[in-house]
Amino acid sequence: MTTILHLDSSIFGSEGQSAQLGQTFVSRWLEVRPETRVIHRDLAAEPLPHLDAATVSAFASPPEERTSQQAAVVARSDVLIDEIQAADVLVVGLPMYNLGVPTQFKAWLDQIARAGVTFRYTETGVEGLLTGKKAYVLTARGGIHAGTPTDTQTPYIQGIFDTMGISDVEFVHAEGLDMGEAARNAAIAGASSRIAELAA
Ligand SMILES: Cc1cc2nc3c(=O)[nH]c(=O)nc-3n(C[C@H](O)[C@H](O)[C@H](O)COP(=O)(O)O)c2cc1C
Repeated sequence: MTTILHLDSSIFGSEGQSAQLGQTFVSRWLEVRPETRVIHRDLAAEPLPHLDAATVSAFASPPEERTSQQAAVVARSDVLIDEIQAADVLVVGLPMYNLGVPTQFKAWLDQIARAGVTFRYTETGVEGLLTGKKAYVLTARGGIHAGTPTDTQTPYIQGIFDTMGISDVEFVHAEGLDMGEAARNAAIAGASSRIAELAA
């Protein structure tokens, strides 16, 4: 059975445009493949803590030497890693806030990017361990950024996903959402139609 990991991080919950794009994708996918298992995580509704030294130290400690507090910290990360390991397909609704990814999404990445677990260092460089997955990243942006230096999201996501072995990443950008009603409607229609194609 195929498993989708569906991530949201709009601070506006299900009203967020990126959340609606993600929902469009998953609904269309399920119409065609109803037997799919979907793991949904709303990272804004249930935020993860920011990375700190205690967390990094817990990750680096051998299991038998962890304190109970460190074991709890690692257990939280393990749950998130189990979810992505189980997924064949990732669907990421990704708002642009202040030219970057939402802090809640970054906090999730900081929980799952673990040396020795989701990637490892080798003599020839970094090797990602989350292989065999396809990711769809559906962005929502007030302005227009794709193909310009202000699109920090695309290279960042490509880089961090690739580090963990996820190299098959498809982006759909809904842009110009704050540039007037006509631009907004056209962007949503274009992105939704592309998403329906990809999910079918
Ligand atoms: C706090 C905040 C910061 C934003 N920063 C940017 C930005 O830097 N560039 C941009 O194009 N749009 C920006 N926007 C507009 C959002 O990208 C747009 O509203 C988008 O729909 C957000 O996704 P969401 O609706 O899923 O939350 C910002 C919106 C908010 C609320």
